Amino acid sequence: MATIIAGIGSSHVPAIGAALDNGKTEEPYWKRVFSGFEKSQEWMRATKPDVAIIVYNDHASAFSVEMIPTFALGCAAEFPPADEGWGPRPVPVVKGHPALASHIAQSVILDEFDLTICNKMEVDHGMTVPMNLLFGKIDKNGHWPCPVVPLAVNVVMYPPPTGHRCYMLGKAIRKAVESYPDNLRVVIFGTGGLSHQISGPRAGLINSKWDKNFLDNLSKNPKKLAQIPHIDYMREAGAEGIEMVMWLIMRGALDDKVDEVYRFYTVPASNTAVGHIILENHRRRGKSGGKAKHTAIKYKRAAARAKPTIIQG
Ligand code: DHB
Ligand code: FE
Repeated sequence: MATIIAGIGSSHVPAIGAALDNGKTEEPYWKRVFSGFEKSQEWMRATKPDVAIIVYNDHASAFSVEMIPTFALGCAAEFPPADEGWGPRPVPVVKGHPALASHIAQSVILDEFDLTICNKMEVDHGMTVPMNLLFGKIDKNGHWPCPVVPLAVNVVMYPPPTGHRCYMLGKAIRKAVESYPDNLRVVIFGTGGLSHQISGPRAGLINSKWDKNFLDNLSKNPKKLAQIPHIDYMREAGAEGIEMVMWLIMRGALDDKVDEVYRFYTVPASNTAVGHIILENHRRRGKSGGKAKHTAIKYKRAAARAKPTIIQG
């Protein structure tokens, strides 16, 4: 069976992509951001997932404002980078995993989560920036290290799905993954956020207290987060802070109790705070039904489990 071994939360600030693409990673402003992902890239190299499910949002790049699915699952063989106004980012085409994606679609739709199936889709910074942050910079002639099942969530036009709906969808995705016959080791990303507001009188709003509380509860008490209504995100985290509900899909796909192995938080990057967390499922069952050995990480495992690395830039 396939297994979700870990969840990753990451911001997707588009200016991070621009800094990478324009060779600005060594500038102090950006070095502060990128240095927070060095350990994560080390973790990713050690973990070597077979597939990543990436929960992200499209910013009117693939769908436009004429038609916006609430949840759209990418079932295609590949997903080219979208032109967001400056030409497509110089990153590789994202390879899909149509067999796993179709299996997830069948399982969650029969579980009454009505996803839109996308057999052709371009992906914007919402997906490619977190991929760069976790997999490192890869130019367009290279390859991303693993195939991806993209799940696009509407957080750009009212009404987005509730945090609770997202959390429950995560659980349905986990069930789907665990009923897939092949032995795949899967990681799931929740992306976007953290607190930010791009326009209007409150443009520039960042609420670090809210962000840190969100990260704490994501790790220890996600059910509490799943009850937060939209209006609280708007009020406390800004209009674009609603992107954070996507992290609850990732969290719903994990065990109730997880090991937080890494966290990073820095302010600001462009108009937002950059937040990042890695949560591991520690009890995994192999094909035999017995306790599976932890596959991934020699990555300072015991120490990391006892005390997550928390870096604040
Ligand atoms: C910014 C952040 C976003 O999440 C986004 O989609 C666009 C812009 C920003 O911080 O500038
Ligand atoms: Fe965004």
